[in-house]
Amino acid sequence: MEIRVTSGDIAQVATGAVVVGLFEGAPQLEGAAAALDRALDGAISRLMADGEIKGKASEATLVHTLGKLPSARVLVMGLGKKEDLSLDRLRAVSGDACRALRRAGVTRFATVSHGAGVGGIEPRAAAQSLAEGAILGLYTFRRHMTRPPEFKEIDELLLVEREAEKLSALEQGVRSGRITAEAANMARDMVNEPANFMTPAQMAEAAREVAEQHGLAITVLEREQMQEMGMGALLGVAQGSQQPPKFIVLEYKGGGSRTPLGLLGKGLTFDSGGISIKPAEGMQEMKGDMAGGAAVIAAMGAIAQLRPPVNVTGIVPATENLPSGTAYKPGDTLKSMGGKTIEVISTDAEGRLILADALCYARRQGISPLVDAATLTGACVVALGDVCTGAFTNNQEFLNKVLKAAGTAGEKTWQLPMYVEYKEQNKSDVADVKNTGGRNAGAITAAQFLAEFAEDTPWVHLDIAGTARSEKERGYTVKGATGTPTRTFIQLALDLA
Ligand code: BES
Ligand code: MN
Ligand code: ZN
Repeated sequence: MEIRVTSGDIAQVATGAVVVGLFEGAPQLEGAAAALDRALDGAISRLMADGEIKGKASEATLVHTLGKLPSARVLVMGLGKKEDLSLDRLRAVSGDACRALRRAGVTRFATVSHGAGVGGIEPRAAAQSLAEGAILGLYTFRRHMTRPPEFKEIDELLLVEREAEKLSALEQGVRSGRITAEAANMARDMVNEPANFMTPAQMAEAAREVAEQHGLAITVLEREQMQEMGMGALLGVAQGSQQPPKFIVLEYKGGGSRTPLGLLGKGLTFDSGGISIKPAEGMQEMKGDMAGGAAVIAAMGAIAQLRPPVNVTGIVPATENLPSGTAYKPGDTLKSMGGKTIEVISTDAEGRLILADALCYARRQGISPLVDAATLTGACVVALGDVCTGAFTNNQEFLNKVLKAAGTAGEKTWQLPMYVEYKEQNKSDVADVKNTGGRNAGAITAAQFLAEFAEDTPWVHLDIAGTARSEKERGYTVKGATGTPTRTFIQLALDLA
């Protein structure tokens, strides 16, 4: 979809549909909506008077213009209450509007930048939200379908602005929005891709393409190098699979000699549970157990395009977790890169094992601070559902920055506690630590396990087990992979600059 910004009067534009926004409870139409209403002999205000248009968030009303306007249709989108307007509301309305138009067969449309100037929202940010919501909301994953789609793609979005001096801010916003949303969609593609099309080698290949396209340095460590570096935890998980593991490192340099921000992502391209095998029901979802890694790779590409003056290193340990005659077993002990030994209680608690070596690698490289994203625990899903990501830290100041970035990005994130008492559940009788802490507080004991390997480096862990996928289509979220936390990662790099 092409997004263009032009100056002019939206009532004069000839396209498939023009979109106007309406606040809930607004006594009368204002601005562009009022002008369109006049041209339509009061059709919109009549729908309002009759109670069919209330302005509730994402309420969509399509009105045919029957030759009274150069465009064939007007789509009136509810923006919700004016005092509740936020960037995330604008993203959601944009996504819902685009899908409503696509359902109606519209392939080109024009809109004004809703919300610009309301409640402190800058035109640039409003345009960014509009573009993000549109690109995210229209996302589909059809690579493995041979039947044609039942809809036509929207190929043009025209953003029309009356005041010419605002155009460049809107254009900048559209550019950032496009880069951010396309990155999240790339992460979605990787997560939606089945495990037979997204092996560790294919993940490394995807990272290589991102690196080549956007000028990032890339290193992919092979099994032999992992052995030399002593990554016994990652290698333990990988030993049950025929697919060779890959340790992917992407580097963006924009910040001179400053220590890089480290983005780490769990790259389990398929998690069967291993010898501690998972129940068959729902196991197919474990093709998405590399969502954290996908977000890292995609965010690195976006950061390279947005060029903030910081250094950022992306690290993705990638492997499968399968049962076989060579697989690691419950009771095995593994020696991690830093020398700490781990007793394996469950081979299904594999994410924390591969991240243990990734954290150690990052520390050896002098990378600080560190954020990891991982579909780590079912316990996090039980605690927080699919509404928000769980956040954990050894450094409150750094977590506050991550929470702020997540808020700007519209990716809900909630902190869970890291009281030292929880560490006791990870104590082992035969090794330094064990890889499960029992049923209680499973998301926290997993985070406490990772904390052993982050040591004194400022670190945040994001458990995205519940938020990496959505069962519902709503706003700019569609069914399947969400791309979380790609946009938080990008925003964090921008904020740290
Ligand atoms: N990848 C899973 C966690 C998961 C569960 C992600 C549901 C997405 C949806 C992880 O590797 C896992 O299996 N965790 C175990 C840990 C347990 C054995 C301590 C879990 O949560 O059951
Ligand atoms: Mn598992
Ligand atoms: Zn897993």
